Amino acid sequence: MGCHRLNRNDRGNTLFLKDIYHWIDFGTLSGRKALTDIVGNFINQKEANTFKGGCVMYNFMYFTPTKVFFGNDAESKVGEVLKEYGYKKILIHYGGGSIKKTGLFDRIAKSLYDAGLAYAELGGVEPNPKIGLIREGIKFCKQEEVDFILAVGGGSVIDSAKSISMGLANNMDPWDMISTQTMPTKQFPIGVVLTLAAAGSEMSNSHVVSNPEVHLKRSLDHDLLRPIVTFMNPELTYTVNKFQTGCGIVDTMMHTFERYFTIDEDNDLIDRISEGIIVSVKNAGLVAIKEPDNYEARATLMWASSLSHNGLTGCGKKTYFPAHMIEHDISGVFDHVAHGAGLSVIFPAWATYIYKHDIRKFSQFAARIWGVEMDYDHPEKTALAGIETMKNYFRQIGMPTTMKELGIEPKDYEKIADKSTNKGEKTVESYIQLTKEDIIAIYNLAR
Ligand code: NZQ
Ligand code: ZN
Repeated sequence: MGCHRLNRNDRGNTLFLKDIYHWIDFGTLSGRKALTDIVGNFINQKEANTFKGGCVMYNFMYFTPTKVFFGNDAESKVGEVLKEYGYKKILIHYGGGSIKKTGLFDRIAKSLYDAGLAYAELGGVEPNPKIGLIREGIKFCKQEEVDFILAVGGGSVIDSAKSISMGLANNMDPWDMISTQTMPTKQFPIGVVLTLAAAGSEMSNSHVVSNPEVHLKRSLDHDLLRPIVTFMNPELTYTVNKFQTGCGIVDTMMHTFERYFTIDEDNDLIDRISEGIIVSVKNAGLVAIKEPDNYEARATLMWASSLSHNGLTGCGKKTYFPAHMIEHDISGVFDHVAHGAGLSVIFPAWATYIYKHDIRKFSQFAARIWGVEMDYDHPEKTALAGIETMKNYFRQIGMPTTMKELGIEPKDYEKIADKSTNKGEKTVESYIQLTKEDIIAIYNLAR
């Protein structure tokens, strides 16, 4: 039985395959044979050239306006490119100082100077960027009369720049906008020199900000937050340490995984693009951890970081990002938790909690991405083996897989789950609506 082409309103049929899986758990041998045929059709690599499905493709709008300069001298073009755009005074926005140590700041300043552009600088962005510095940044940009913000760093610096730009253009406090989900209507232009392959913010429409006063970390997404230009030199990531490299590998995988597992039936084209990105990241990740200055590995991770979060792997799908929602509250309450490390703990636990709602997709994930041999009689075993293999991979690249490793004890669980669910009043959308109790159960699976 091949997967028949469904149209987007054909929801009854969409549920059909999943229902069979549910039934087979308790079913007969002939039922198992039917299941085997279905699973085989979806998973058998030998049949990879046959179009089997691609069953749901919702209407979508795809907008990736960011111009990308990629390669081993990308940042040397900053001055000439920004001059061509017509900007005159640039804010160089950066983090805790890695760009000063590596000499990158001086090279960028020289490139701007050589192009006849003025600049001001504002450093000090912390991981999990804080609203306090963003507010300072807005005042500073007005005072210095800059007309462009250049974020030089990873996701935290880029998101801080996005928030400053949103506040400047819309004349509102960015935290007020984020907490009330007030969408921007105007754009103050920003660009990026990327130094860490992870968050995908260099092309994404998203930004995430922490407010330590209320222990919340929240995001706001809008296309006006996409950088207009991004410079990506993989060599700039040679100095990223093993831990941050691991965080980046996990985060890049997650941006695709969160779009891969949806309640919809498959979208074959997008699934296979997604699987390709994740397998490449998996392979390149192992190399980059061992050989930090391996250009091909770093280049693969860098471009994958962008492709994973610029919208490509979500085209035609409805997505929810439950692991991200749960993780943001962990790093909102515990500022020492890096986003990628939190995801490395939460995503496998979420998968273990939820896989029964989509055994077929989780067994596909196990076979196609993690190389687990398909057990056609017991696809749930394949699914679980896939989750275990992923966890082992995370451990292999030095990432945590337990809450304890994050320094979070069971006594803290309720406090964090309260943030995610507004004290139990709302749910986190996933295959099911995750309640406060579900989220605590997920923490417990990662205890
Ligand atoms: O601050 P500096 O001194 O630059 O050091 C940073 C920082 O300590 C260091 N680093 C960066 N580039 C380096 C380097 N060290 C040596 N050599 C280099 N070339 O790395 C540390 C972590 O930096 P950070 O920017 O915090 O990491 P990442 O890129 O992983 O970003 C994480 C943030 O992005 C958000 C996360 O929530 C988190 O706040 N995300 C943003 C998204 C978006 N805007 O679309 C999506 C993501 O899901 C994510 O939520
Ligand atoms: Zn992320």
